[in-house]
Order: sequence, then structure tokens, then C-alpha cells
Amino acid sequence: MKRTIFISIFFAAFVLPFSVACGGDETEPQQQEQPDTPESPDEPDTPSSGNGKVLVAYFSRANHVPDGTDAVSGATNKTRNTQTVAMELSRLTGGDLFEIIPARDYPVSHTECSEIALQEYEADARPALTTHVDNMEDYDIIYIGFPIWRYCEPMAIRTFLEEYDFTGKTIRPFCTSMAVGIEDAQANIARLCPESSVADGLRISYNIPNNLEELLSEWIGIE
Ligand SMILES: Cc1cc2nc3c(=O)[nH]c(=O)nc-3n(C[C@H](O)[C@H](O)[C@H](O)COP(=O)(O)O)c2cc1C
Repeated sequence: MKRTIFISIFFAAFVLPFSVACGGDETEPQQQEQPDTPESPDEPDTPSSGNGKVLVAYFSRANHVPDGTDAVSGATNKTRNTQTVAMELSRLTGGDLFEIIPARDYPVSHTECSEIALQEYEADARPALTTHVDNMEDYDIIYIGFPIWRYCEPMAIRTFLEEYDFTGKTIRPFCTSMAVGIEDAQANIARLCPESSVADGLRISYNIPNNLEELLSEWIGIE
């Protein structure tokens, strides 16, 4: 009995006034504060740098054409595909975005670039990189994106993979390409990072599909 009285007093004195003050009137539904969301897939969230866990690292030929490149030929050369996918992936996962930037430039000309890619592949080269992840230990899942170059990953990706300790981490490779799948590159990555778990990768066409968000969301959901 004493307990019932106490609960009644407590409710009347504290809970009731508080709920009224907070707009608990059922006739006027409360306006829910909406979380900030990007207005369109073209405007990806800039991932915050402090959320740890997920890193989206990518190499794309986007910004690595030599200075003075003819604007017209540059414009007709299809680049930034992997960057486009990486940015969308970063937006969807909330992961930190990191660009793998080689020290050298790669020619805009497909033929010339292809020649260099072949030379680097045959030499099993490790092109130097100018960007580095300072806190790789903070990440558990690392998405690694790249364009397919001559049927596999560009050698800069191998430089990146050998720079860090991926022990116990999950690597999720993704690529863009004209036609070639990710399987060979994925096998190479698994060989280079035997202490990590390399999940099934995803290949996206260089003609970035309109349903990119859907494709990525589906892939992200797969363990
Ligand atoms: C040097 C070089 C080699 C390529 N080799 C292949 C290949 O073997 N198979 C393929 O399907 N696409 C190949 N491509 C096409 C790229 O994978 C494709 O255009 C990719 O989306 C480019 O990505 P990026 O814009 O992020 O650099 C090659 C492109 C370049 C520049």
C-alpha cells in the first residue's frame, strides 16, 4: 500500500510534468529530428575521420595524369571510375576514405599506360606511394578498390598491401573494369595477405551502372 502511494506521488511530481514539458500531448505529434542525409548519391558524405572500423582505400587513375595534359584528350579518357565507387562505398558504410596515390604519374593514353602497367607487372614492381594510412590498426574491415590493369590489380595495390599488417582484418576487394572480373586480383590479394580474411570481391563495370547504390548495398550485406 505504502509502495503504491509512493509510486503515485513520484509519478505526479516528476514524470507527469516532464512528459508535458517535452510535448507529450498525443493530439500534436512531435516533430522528429531527421538525421543529416546526403541530398543525392552525387554528393557523398565526407566520412568523419574518427569512426574507426571501416576503411575504404582505393587507387584510381583520376588525379595522376601528368601536368600539362591536354584538356580535351584528358576529358575523353575515362577515369575516376574506381573513385566514384569508393566514394559511394564510403558514404554507405560510413568508412573513412583513403586514396592510394603513386609517386609516379601514369600516362593518359591507354596504350602508353597499358605498356607501363605491363612492364610493372612483369617486373613484379612495387611503385612508391605518396599517401600512407597512419592508423591502420584502428580498422577491422578494409575495402580496397582499384581498376583492373592487364587482367589484375595495378602493382601500386601490392605496394599498399605489403606496407601494413592486415593480420586478423577483413579485406573486401572491389574493382572497376571494362570486362575482366575480380577473381584473379582477389586471389593475388589473398596470397599477399595470408593472415587476413579476404572476402568475395565485387567488380563494377567501367560504365558505372545507375543502380550502383543497390549493387554496393547488396554486397556490403554479404558476410
Ligand atoms: C593500363 C590499363 C589497363 C587496363 N586493363 C584492363 C583489362 O585488362 N581488362 C579490363 O576489363 N579493363 C582494363 N582496363 C580498363 C579499366 O579497368 C577501367 O577503365 C577502369 O574502370 C578504370 O578505372 P579508373 O577510372 O578508376 O582508373 C585497363 C585500363 C588501363 C588504363
